[in-house]
Amino acid sequence: MPKTYSNPLVILHWFQGILLTFILVSGTLVLSNIPNTIAKIGSLKVHIVLGLFIFLLTIVRLIVLAKYPKPAKLTQMGILREKLISLNHLLIYMVILAMAVSGIVLGRMTGLSEIIFFGSTLALPENFKALTVGVVHGMLSKVLIALIVIHIIGVFSYMLKTKENILKRMWFPKPKDRR
Ligand code: HEM
Repeated sequence: MPKTYSNPLVILHWFQGILLTFILVSGTLVLSNIPNTIAKIGSLKVHIVLGLFIFLLTIVRLIVLAKYPKPAKLTQMGILREKLISLNHLLIYMVILAMAVSGIVLGRMTGLSEIIFFGSTLALPENFKALTVGVVHGMLSKVLIALIVIHIIGVFSYMLKTKENILKRMWFPKPKDRR
């Protein structure tokens, strides 16, 4: 059994970590505070392209996860913690996919793709939160932030407790461990 996750998964994990941090921070602190005038179109374009890219990467990541061998499960903990870790990982994937789908539905319902990519002169809706799917998209973003924070706290608390550096599992293997 390998000691680390596969190289493609390691790359996807850290690359998506950076992209998700950017889209969650910029979406929450910048995008949602810009008034819906024509000046917002550039920021929305960046957000949508990035959101769709993250969607695609998540699908690729789930395929990689299923196809490549994984390291053994972490053992120095109880069954409950093991189950909570698996649940945390599953929910992160599910909520990312749900965010992308709710974003796409929000875009379709407000004619965003025509306005942003195809030069339509229609106005942006006054407030995306007037639509239920807009509220859902915003709520899911808070859930995703919470899940990622729990994920990071979980990793470091496990390392503190067991003195085992599990970050190595999500990095490229040492030459002697290469398969
Ligand atoms: C994984 C993918 C995505 C993530 C993580 C994400 C994240 C976010 C976040 C954090 C916000 C701010 C929510 C708030 O604080 O109220 C937001 C708003 C928004 N997102 Fe996304 N998003 C994603 C994909 C998409 C996609 C694919 C679209 C459109 C096709 C989209 C369209 C929007 C719109 C229209 C808003 C509202 C901006 C506003 O309130 O003015 N998002 N998104």
